[in-house]
Amino acid sequence: MALRFVKAAALAAAVGLSASLPMGAAKAAEGPVELPHVNFSFNGPFGTFDRAQVQRGFQVYKDVCAACHGMHLLAYRNLRDIGLSEEEVTAIAASVQIQDGPNDNGEMFERPGRASDRFRRPFANDAAARAANNGALPPDLSVITKARVGGAQYIHALLVGYTQPPEGVTVMEGMHYNEYFPGHQIAMAPPLVQDGQLTFGDGTNATVDQMARDVSAFLTWAAEPELETRRAMGVRILIFLAILGGLTYAVKRKIWADVH
Ligand code: HEC
Repeated sequence: MALRFVKAAALAAAVGLSASLPMGAAKAAEGPVELPHVNFSFNGPFGTFDRAQVQRGFQVYKDVCAACHGMHLLAYRNLRDIGLSEEEVTAIAASVQIQDGPNDNGEMFERPGRASDRFRRPFANDAAARAANNGALPPDLSVITKARVGGAQYIHALLVGYTQPPEGVTVMEGMHYNEYFPGHQIAMAPPLVQDGQLTFGDGTNATVDQMARDVSAFLTWAAEPELETRRAMGVRILIFLAILGGLTYAVKRKIWADVH
């Protein structure tokens, strides 16, 4: 009898715990502030990438972010996926100097990049990266949209979220106030500071907000290049299941037709 009571109590506790856990997790995931909503072309279950936007986003990465952030999971040749031609990719790769070696004399050397090279690392190692950034390490951006709650929405918010600190908040030396960064003090100086900081090849007006959106789209593609294939496959599977379901139902009706 007593054992049964203990069991029931344990069950009740377990149910209570599992019911409260997801809520707690969801709360933590919400973060401190709500992110401004951006209508990205890849939002929703059927969304796809806007190639022109992803290309502009790569330009923002290349001309601004690449000074501090690497993307070591990407090779230059992957840029063909976003619609750049063979020649453009070769030219982009050749415009950077890549560390290679050792050569026959055992020395490391630099050479122009090739399409098969991974994106150039901006710093030789993490210590050098920290030394150049006030002790903070700029994270690799290859899968950053997967590594942060909110993904592209968060990256966009972070890039446009630099403001003056509210009354009574002192920002530490070398830090910057950002509304959307957890804790609000970030070591990254605002990378996108003024409209027209870049000129986009397709004539799009390069406002800070536009550059932030575009680079967020590019980082989403980088983290999830298979997104469109995966979604197209999902649609095909749903169509297949609908047809199969219809057939199964028809067969069932036929087989059971004589049973009254
Ligand atoms: C001058 C160097 C520098 C440049 C340029 C720069 N960043 Fe950063 N970034 C940093 C540093 C340093 C950190 C680490 C900040 C910290 O932890 O306080 C960081 C952090 C980040 C983070 C992580 C924030 C988090 O939630 O942890 C993202 C995302 C990011 N940068 C995106 C970008 C993008 C996109 C660009 C280009 C538009 C860019 N950065 C340009 C130095 C830079």
